Formats: sequence, C-alpha cells, structure tokens
Amino acid sequence: MSQRSRNHREPALQAPLNDLASLTTRLAREGFIAAAEEAEELLAYAAADPTLLDASVRRRLTGEPLAWITGTVSFCDVIVHVDPDVYVPRWLSEPLACRAVERLPAAGTAIDLCTGSGAIAAVLRAHRPNARVVASDIDARAVACAAGNGVEVYLGDLFAPLPPDLAGQVDVVVSVVPYVPTPELPLLQRDTFTFERPLSYDGGADGTDILRRVARDSPGFLRPGGALLLELGGDQADLLCDELVRLDYVDLAVLADEDGDVRGVEATFGRRPV
Ligand SMILES: C[S@@+](CC[C@H](N)C(=O)[O-])C[C@H]1O[C@@H](n2cnc3c(N)ncnc32)[C@H](O)[C@@H]1O
Repeated sequence: MSQRSRNHREPALQAPLNDLASLTTRLAREGFIAAAEEAEELLAYAAADPTLLDASVRRRLTGEPLAWITGTVSFCDVIVHVDPDVYVPRWLSEPLACRAVERLPAAGTAIDLCTGSGAIAAVLRAHRPNARVVASDIDARAVACAAGNGVEVYLGDLFAPLPPDLAGQVDVVVSVVPYVPTPELPLLQRDTFTFERPLSYDGGADGTDILRRVARDSPGFLRPGGALLLELGGDQADLLCDELVRLDYVDLAVLADEDGDVRGVEATFGRRPV
C-alpha cells in the first residue's frame, strides 16, 4: 500500500470548483498560501476538463505536491518536468542556480550533484548551451526524471558514477544535498513529511553529513579557481567553514536571502598564489 493511500482519505468537494474565484477561496480556506496561483495553475492544467479538474483538486487537497499533479514546475523561468515521488525544486534554490550560471564559463563544465528532477542542471544548460553539464542522483526515479529533462545524468552516490575524465576539469560543482538534521525531520511541513522521502532531506545528526562529503570530494573534480556552491541553512555555514579552509578553498561567502537567512555557501577551490 502506498504512503498516500495509507494516510489520506479523499476530501469531499462540496461545490463545483471550476472557476478561479471559488477554487482560490477553497484552497485559501484549506491553508494554501499561494491559493490564487495554485488555482490558476490547476485550471490551466485541467484545460476545462471538469473530471480532470475535480481529480486534480482532490489530490491537491490531500497535500500532494502541485508539481506531481500537473507534472511541471517553473524553476528560474525554465519549465522542469517533475515525476511523482521526485523532489520538487524549490524557489529558495533559485538564487543558488543563478549563481552557478554566473560562475560557469560559456564552454565550461559543471556538475549538479543530488540533481533530483535535474532542475539546476536544466537551468545551467538553458543559460550555457555550449557548456557540459553533468549530474547524478542516488534515486533511479530522479535519474529517469532528470534524463527526461534532457540532463546528462548518472545513477549513484554523489561523484561515484560520474565520468572519470571530469577529474580536475570542472568549473562549478553545485548541489542541493539533503541537509535537514535528522532530529528536525519531524518538524518539516505536513505535506513534506507525508509525501516526500527522507532520502531527499536527511543530512545526519547536524545536517552536514553529505555537505561535508561533497566539500571533501569536490577538489578531485574542480579545476583551480572552480566554484563550489552548496545550499544549506541555519548554522551549517559556520560548521563547514574550517573544513573548507583546510581543504584549500578560498573566498568563502555565505549566501543569504533578503531576510538575512542563510541559504548557501560559495567557495573557490585552490590556494591563492603567494
Ligand atoms: C533536496 S533534493 C534536491 C534535488 C534538486 N537538486 C533540486 O534542488 O530540486 C536531494 C536529492 O538528493 C538525492 N540524494 C540523496 N542522497 C544522495 C547521494 N548520496 N548521492 C546522490 N544523490 C543523493 C535525493 O535522491 C534527492 O533527489
């Protein structure tokens, strides 16, 4: 039995929700923050097919991610296909993807680890069509999804499945790894906890297990001057900082959002010339 059918009863739709106003009202009443945008997306997806709309709204009211229902999400203005059970790219990762684009030369090479649907890799490809962009994920469903988005993607643990000829050649390693501290997993939003899997989130005791592994293994792939860009949160930049310096990264920068919340870290690989 799937997790979904175990945990959810189909919600009753009291009245037809086939116009923007009534669907927005219903979604807002159920606590969906972006109710109007979601209503618009559901209506566009169902394209005046009342049966499809009804089924889609029912699914959304269970908390199932909208992108799993419509099959797509816009990420950095690139339309990314997202299969059910594959992590839905979040808007908060967009600045990291944009920064990766900035650090990637026109004909350079980038690696997107833990690629999920391949969203970041797809953005890199869209903005740097002459670059080589390679990705990996440990989940076969994610790999199939990323491949469907046109990404050169390999199945396996972090760098392990990547072509060895990339060693020392890479301009950018970017990644949104699982970085939620294990004890905080139960605090994730209800929908996340119900539908998505710990594989996408669980970063170990303080959330930095995979972040540290990526930081340690990236020097085998980055060229001197290449960039490491990692999404993280809370105090994880501080937790990682000493290790990054020990590993010969320079120009460390903490990436924060407009509210000042820490969202990532950027570092350049290679000793400064003395
Ligand atoms: C938070 S999601 C990020 C997905 C994507 N980068 C994005 O932003 O939409 C983390 C992804 O890491 C993958 N993953 C977890 N552990 C991994 C590992 N050891 N090696 C490769 N991928 C891993 C999961 O399958 C999941 O797709």
